Amino acid sequence: MRLKEKTVVITGGAKGIGAVAASLFGKNGAQIAIVDFDKKAGEEKAQQLHEKGIEAAFFQADVSNSENVREMAVKVIEQFGKVDILINNAGITRDAMLLKLDVDDFKRVIDVNLTGVFNCTQAFLPAMLAQGKGKIINTSSIAGTGGNIGQTNYSAAKAGIIGMTRTWAKEFGRKGINVNAVAPGFIETDMIETIPEKILEQIKTMTPYNRLGTPEDVANAYLFLASDESDFVNGTVLEVDGGMLK
Ligand SMILES: NC(=O)c1ccc[n+]([C@@H]2O[C@H](COP(=O)([O-])OP(=O)(O)OC[C@H]3O[C@@H](n4cnc5c(N)ncnc54)[C@H](O)[C@@H]3O)[C@@H](O)[C@H]2O)c1
Repeated sequence: MRLKEKTVVITGGAKGIGAVAASLFGKNGAQIAIVDFDKKAGEEKAQQLHEKGIEAAFFQADVSNSENVREMAVKVIEQFGKVDILINNAGITRDAMLLKLDVDDFKRVIDVNLTGVFNCTQAFLPAMLAQGKGKIINTSSIAGTGGNIGQTNYSAAKAGIIGMTRTWAKEFGRKGINVNAVAPGFIETDMIETIPEKILEQIKTMTPYNRLGTPEDVANAYLFLASDESDFVNGTVLEVDGGMLK
């Protein structure tokens, strides 16, 4: 029970890595606020957690919409009374090589993946500051640390997340708030569905384990950064990529 009585907000918690993290955090004693714009999947996930005896609720919001996020944050705090941990996990891709990348797809990925992290952090930070303790975990990517072909927009957003993480670590560390990022490699979720099987096979050979990452691999990294065990870890980027050859 590493998160006993902690309230955790997980954006993009309806599916993929976020959904697996919600279950893991729940098993570790936390109350879970699932934030997602997919209402059906979010409600189903909250129901699934209830059936396992975990206190959870779904809050619909588009993280790119600041007004939406502010309203959602008020409802979360009304329901749970506090927020201890924020996992800024929601993200999308709209991949294309630079010359074919539509400006709307560039902007949408920045809006969701980068501005979304800004919006949610700004909305929940005051509650954490009032408590004098909090943990913020931002989901970056190896595309943010090293770039990736066909992902100009996504790499820019994920690199920007690292910049915000390090800035906030400095701004709020002395106020008891740890801010860290996780940079996953290729993880088996819907997000990588569009990558051809042949490429995935090549990607696997780039790790010593010859496999893709699982959502559990990333959720376990979130758990460490969310727990008191990481109290002296601040402003770091934890790579969960199986030691991919760069
Ligand atoms: N899967 C990978 O290989 C991989 C690698 C590196 C980083 N990541 C990052 O991990 C995070 C989780 O990815 P995943 O693989 O679980 O993806 P996923 O597509 O399986 O799940 C993403 C979730 O975010 C939600 N979401 C999307 N846009 C939203 C918005 N505007 N507002 C609220 N919710 C929104 C979706 O509805 C979905 O539930 C993302 O930030 C992603 O960029 C994933």
